[in-house]
Amino acid sequence: METIKVSLGERSYEIRLSHTFEPLAGAVCGILPAGRALLVSDENVYPLYGAAVRSLLEQAGFQVTPAVIPAGEESKTLAQADALYTAAITAGLDRSSAVFALGGGVVGDLAGFVAATYLRGVPFIQLPTTLLSQVDSSVGGKVAVNHRLGKNLIGAFYQPRLVWIATDVLQTLPEREFFSGAAEVAKYGAIMSEPLFRLLEEKWEAFRSLESDVLTGVIAECCRLKARVVAEDEQEKGLRAILNFGHTIGHALEAATAYRYYLHGEAVLAGMVLAVHLALGQGLLGREDGERLLKLFARVGLKAAPPWLGAREVLAAMRQDKKRTGERLVFILPAAVGQVRVCNHLKEEDILPLLERYLKDAAENLLTVGKNRLRI
Ligand code: GLY
Repeated sequence: METIKVSLGERSYEIRLSHTFEPLAGAVCGILPAGRALLVSDENVYPLYGAAVRSLLEQAGFQVTPAVIPAGEESKTLAQADALYTAAITAGLDRSSAVFALGGGVVGDLAGFVAATYLRGVPFIQLPTTLLSQVDSSVGGKVAVNHRLGKNLIGAFYQPRLVWIATDVLQTLPEREFFSGAAEVAKYGAIMSEPLFRLLEEKWEAFRSLESDVLTGVIAECCRLKARVVAEDEQEKGLRAILNFGHTIGHALEAATAYRYYLHGEAVLAGMVLAVHLALGQGLLGREDGERLLKLFARVGLKAAPPWLGAREVLAAMRQDKKRTGERLVFILPAAVGQVRVCNHLKEEDILPLLERYLKDAAENLLTVGKNRLRI
């Protein structure tokens, strides 16, 4: 078992990495009084792990009410939050009760939003079951629901009391979900850790085959990196913005396709690939590092855009980005492998030609720094 601390004064908490959920009950009892609990999960995850987690919590003295939501980004709504408030009220949850999120990023963000707002805040525990939620969304306290005009527009910073990562659950994760999480893993290397990036280059096959030592080491390292960023800048006033590498375009792609076409990591990966080309075009990134970044991103796998999607629709979605400052878009651009810069001088017209290339060309054309490919 590995423990990583997220240091935030009285809101500090631990991320615990274990193979299974088995030792969870003891850990929870150490931080919360056993009482009523809402166990939020989705229709994919609950049948696999719900009963076991429920029984562990019941053994620890909790009175557990499961609340199972439909799987997928479309559940991250105020309407679904309302259904969970109803479940919490009906089950008699009071201020000392807890909300457990057993699932991926959608379950964690939604359950966290409910925990942050129900009775003005009740304790919240993250039990992430996807690679993406284990390395990113379960850590750092960003909780939210989507609005039809944009992703995560309604939310809060609300830290969990514990993040429990059971790595064995990744054995049942669909491959597409694994690669969506792998995009966020590659992101950590690209933005702040050349050694992690190199490890992924060298051990990619072991990582993607879920070889235990490599997988656990990579997840732990991502959590350490994220814990460091969050401890320094919990509310994204500065440093934390680097975690949004690939997200300006990625969120817009997700919103412009109504959250039905891309998994989050797939959209972020497309955003990171375009950010590499933007950085090359701006003269911020050298060709060699650009090639290295694109080569690893190619191994994660770039998803082509849907044929019906137009650049104007993506730009319109980008206008709703909450990270926007006035007319300027905020981009995180790579300056080297393991280093990024926050860039807020780019305008829509700077992005448009590149976006059109992604939407019209075969996506794989963007995965090399070939002849003429630097011009945007
Ligand atoms: N997923 C980006 C962040 O937590 O800041």
